Amino acid sequence: MEFECGVCLVRPWRQADAEPITRHANDREVWLNLRDRFPHPYGVADAAAYIRSVAARTPPTSFVIAVAGEPAGGIALRLGEDIERCGAEIGYWLGRAYWGRGIMTATVRAVTAYAFASLDLLRVFALPFSDNVASVRVLEKAGYVREGLLRSSAIKAGQVRDQFLYATIRPNG
Ligand SMILES: CC(C)(COP(=O)(O)OP(=O)(O)OC[C@H]1O[C@@H](n2cnc3c(N)ncnc32)[C@H](O)[C@@H]1OP(=O)(O)O)[C@@H](O)C(=O)NCCC(=O)NCCS
Repeated sequence: MEFECGVCLVRPWRQADAEPITRHANDREVWLNLRDRFPHPYGVADAAAYIRSVAARTPPTSFVIAVAGEPAGGIALRLGEDIERCGAEIGYWLGRAYWGRGIMTATVRAVTAYAFASLDLLRVFALPFSDNVASVRVLEKAGYVREGLLRSSAIKAGQVRDQFLYATIRPNG
């Protein structure tokens, strides 16, 4: 499963991605906008363990974003369970060197289309921090709609934070 997005290639992770992706992942500015399950500091062993953990997932739900052949970031779907099994949460990050080139907008579009076409999902949602202007912009450009503000719904780096709830629904779903 690969998605050619023009500005990037979204493909399954390989163990060889561990070392190069670590250079981009080990960045506090990236970590500050992600869940704490994304380690900081981030080492090659963290990348290797993550790649091992997602390799066996069927269907594939985690992908590396490659730019000019180089691993530059990641994107994943977290499938819902029980009565929420018709949906998934989308999460993503990109190395700082690659920001502002439209890469994540293209990637979110491609992975959302995959979620609807191949995973038979009805809904994909995201929970950006309310001050994460770049991520909010990505979601809106990719067709996600703001459904709400989740006040004081997270604690990151010792700060209580608000999150927006953004979602998109399968066309004709
Ligand atoms: C959020 C993130 C994925 C965006 O990736 P990206 O490839 O740079 O995004 P794109 O280039 O596709 O789009 C970014 C948009 O935000 C806009 N933007 C970025 N910073 C902005 C700011 N401070 N104010 C206003 N707009 C801003 C860009 O101009 C662009 O919009 P445009 O195309 O209308 O000009 C990247 O910054 C990142 O990985 N951040 C750290 C991790 C993170 O926040 N992950 C998401 C968690 S919900």
